[in-house]
Amino acid sequence: MERELALEFVRVTEAAALAAARWMGRGDKEAADDAAVGAMRAVFDTVQIDGVVVIGEGEMDEAPMLYIGERVGAGVPPRVDVAVDPLEGTNIVAKGSTGAIAVLAAAPRATLLHAPDMYMDKIAVGPECKGRVSLDASVKENLKEVARVLDRLLCELTVVVLDRPRHQELIEEIRRVGARIKLISDGDVSPAVAAAYPDSGVDILMGIGGAPEGVISAAALRCLGGDFQGRLWPTDEEEVQRAHQMGITDLDHLYTLDELAQSDDVIFAATGITDGDLLKGVRYGARRAKTYSLVMRGVTGTVRYIEAYHQLDRKPLFRDNRIKLYQGEIRNHKD
Ligand code: FBP
Repeated sequence: MERELALEFVRVTEAAALAAARWMGRGDKEAADDAAVGAMRAVFDTVQIDGVVVIGEGEMDEAPMLYIGERVGAGVPPRVDVAVDPLEGTNIVAKGSTGAIAVLAAAPRATLLHAPDMYMDKIAVGPECKGRVSLDASVKENLKEVARVLDRLLCELTVVVLDRPRHQELIEEIRRVGARIKLISDGDVSPAVAAAYPDSGVDILMGIGGAPEGVISAAALRCLGGDFQGRLWPTDEEEVQRAHQMGITDLDHLYTLDELAQSDDVIFAATGITDGDLLKGVRYGARRAKTYSLVMRGVTGTVRYIEAYHQLDRKPLFRDNRIKLYQGEIRNHKD
């Protein structure tokens, strides 16, 4: 993929973030998600790709836009797979807490895993620990190895885990081993990516989250030279059947980074919606907004941070949407 596409993809995540951020703390995760999806979808068609959504908002019959199999982009080469999460952390935005991002990954056609929409057990680490951890190893073995490689005490390591009842045993085991834990309420893509940043305060992500988010995280870690492994974690027979229908027969299969994101020619872009460890959230000014994004390419491993000031009344998409919202506010507050 041409490197110019990196900036185009940032424009896509910026649009989603700008749309979703207006819903921060307003208790309506569906509205926030719809806004992000609509904006992302609209900007995608200006991008010079022949894209197909492999990780998206769901199956065609359950998602009006960005459904799996949907064609996106201007319909010209290169032929790419896209994995999107217009709002990673719907609850985060609804509550106005930290770490929601708009995110996407793109790679040559048929090189991103078409993961079913179910849970995945995950482990993510930075470049120093590449090849040193495994989902087949015990929690103790993995943590001791990470501490050894990073030359730290166990009590100087930070493991990020989603705060869920299903992780009770995992949390107890990490505590027994003596590592530090950062429990998060939602959003495991950011910490997976952060594990590959030396000063992010995150050394390892462990536990069960969404499989689609796993593929997106793997794409970022491929760019950063980190490591990621995943194993599907179906919760009922229906999910097992769904996986079978997608051609996945071995549900115990351990997916390596190279299977989840098969090509170095991968681009990962993300824009902050609410403030987080990885990126700041959207800031508003007078008819303006500022976004904080990052974009990386697997071919070179370059990571770019992009701060953008958007004149909200100059771009048709933002202007029309803003006018609609303004009219809604007038109607709601006639008094
Ligand atoms: P949404 O943005 O779809 O709400 O997902 C957020 C998220 O926290 C992911 O980051 C994570 O992988 C998954 O949900 C965990 O699922 P659950 O909330 O069911 O434990």
